[in-house]
Amino acid sequence: MEIFQAIRKDHEKQRALMESLIETSGDSEHRKKTFEELKEQLDQHAVAEERYFYAPLIKSDKTIDDARHGIAEHHEIEELVDKIAETDMSSPAWLQTMKTLQERVLHHLDEEEKDFFEHANKVLNDNQKNELADKYLKEMQQ
Ligand SMILES: [Fe+2]
Ligand SMILES: [Fe+2]
Repeated sequence: MEIFQAIRKDHEKQRALMESLIETSGDSEHRKKTFEELKEQLDQHAVAEERYFYAPLIKSDKTIDDARHGIAEHHEIEELVDKIAETDMSSPAWLQTMKTLQERVLHHLDEEEKDFFEHANKVLNDNQKNELADKYLKEMQQ
């Protein structure tokens, strides 16, 4: 497996979790649990992705801007997640901010899958693509 497929699989998990989260309502156990799961997914994915996808991309002039842009978006996403965590689950603001997060994350995932993967595909060799996938998957299992 190449790094692109490994990352894409987790992106799908994030998309599904966010889809299900905007269907939840009020101060419910389901909302709480699903949000915790999403937060964990996003945090863990950002760390593993920065280590085993963005780090090698920073080394090439062709992909350094993508890597910087992606990492900056990880920070924005993290801030939104923190904001939601601090918001009362029973207030309308919770869902509002959750929808903003969904929008931001979907934009980020699309950009990675459509632009960054294409650029990275030219910069990384086959060996690197497989090796990065192994390391990424290992990190995600922890
Ligand atoms: Fe990312
Ligand atoms: Fe990602």
